[in-house]
Amino acid sequence: MYLSIADALARDINSGVLNQGDRLPTLRELATTLNVTPGTISRAYNEAHRRRLVQGEVGRGTYVLSQGQLELPASNSAAPLNLGQSELLDLSIIKPYSETLEYWLRGALVGMAKSTDFARALDYAPDGGHPAHREAGAQWLRHALPDAQWQQVVITAGAQHGLMVAMSALTHAGDLVLCEALCYPGIISVAHSLERRLRGIPMDDEGILPDALRELCLREKPAMLVCVATCQNPTAAIMSAARRAQIAALAEEFDFIILDDDIYGFLATDPSIKPLSAYAPDRSVYLTSLSKAIMPALRVGYLYSPPKLLSRLTSMVRSSVWMPSPLTAQLASNVITEGLDSKLVRIQRTQAAERQAIAREIFAGFQFKTQPYSYHLWLTLPEPWSADEFTLLARANGVLVLSGTQFQAERGGDNRCVRLVLMSPTSHDELRFALTKLASLIDSDPRRYY
Ligand SMILES: Cc1ncc(COP(=O)(O)O)c(C=O)c1O
Repeated sequence: MYLSIADALARDINSGVLNQGDRLPTLRELATTLNVTPGTISRAYNEAHRRRLVQGEVGRGTYVLSQGQLELPASNSAAPLNLGQSELLDLSIIKPYSETLEYWLRGALVGMAKSTDFARALDYAPDGGHPAHREAGAQWLRHALPDAQWQQVVITAGAQHGLMVAMSALTHAGDLVLCEALCYPGIISVAHSLERRLRGIPMDDEGILPDALRELCLREKPAMLVCVATCQNPTAAIMSAARRAQIAALAEEFDFIILDDDIYGFLATDPSIKPLSAYAPDRSVYLTSLSKAIMPALRVGYLYSPPKLLSRLTSMVRSSVWMPSPLTAQLASNVITEGLDSKLVRIQRTQAAERQAIAREIFAGFQFKTQPYSYHLWLTLPEPWSADEFTLLARANGVLVLSGTQFQAERGGDNRCVRLVLMSPTSHDELRFALTKLASLIDSDPRRYY
């Protein structure tokens, strides 16, 4: 059915019934007219989008993109698109809203292939990456670190690789590594894979508590603190400037390295707050990637290091992957130097704010933490729910979320929180549908389910 609708759209565009810029009916309007579900229309519009016939734009709906000159062949796969209301809706992975991405990245790929400096992306790259790619990285980092120099940039294959590289290069097996008590599971897996002793520091609404950190440092000697100070994963906490300065002062006093994971820095509410690493630049490594701001498939990340730690990091990149692919680094560089990065960040922030408004409306009366531009929210379930129990039942009801237990740096203890990601549903309708399902589940009594 959805393919027939997409085919009908293609015919109308080719025959001139529909013209460039024409706005298509909303999912609900067309679903009512054709007597099908909004999920079917959503699939049809996605298929038309995939064929480059239509384009979705924040606040404008779906509109005709061209006269069909760029039409791609019909999809011959019946693979589920995570769109229909009978499919699983995935609110478990933090990723950017992707509807407009294909359009922009298709253009960037063509631009890259035509550019005169394309040849440099086809060869081995020197330590740290090709200087031009590192300079583009420095340009991206200057949003957070205005004085960033390309010589201190190390290209990685995404932020997860950056975490692995920095922790393995700058600490030793058996070392004590600190993180937030609730933290991104990728930090937990890297620390344990490398046989570091991982300890979670208690947190409040701003992130880790300086007093708790100090108390631990008086008893033991940490080698590194890994910290996500902006839109923390999973609590969405943003650390104030004063707290950042306190943590940095403790790093100086007790001589440990800060690994400042700022992958969500572009979602800050107050961009004048400096990254944590800027408060102790000589003992901090700044870490980010383009996965959340541009697209996860790029696998391009950047470490920004004080000169004295640089060779340990570049050498660990060599040991781990020889070099991140210069081809994707070239594409990332084109996106950055042509200013497409700012446009995509604007699209993501607008989309996140709109989705936050939907979540606030549906979850009014529930207890949750988030930020105006955060991709995710951290929801506390009422008694007597447990996080694991809720996650299982949400899945049985067609919605994937992550249980709070997955984020506990140290295992054990009670958990009644779940992390919900707002950006993966392809439309606001789909998001509403998923959140409404979750809200009605939360309102029910878990003891009724068997
Ligand atoms: C805090 C944090 N750091 C690092 C990563 C890994 O990002 P990448 O996809 O660039 O490897 C994630 C992904 O969710 C994350 O939330």
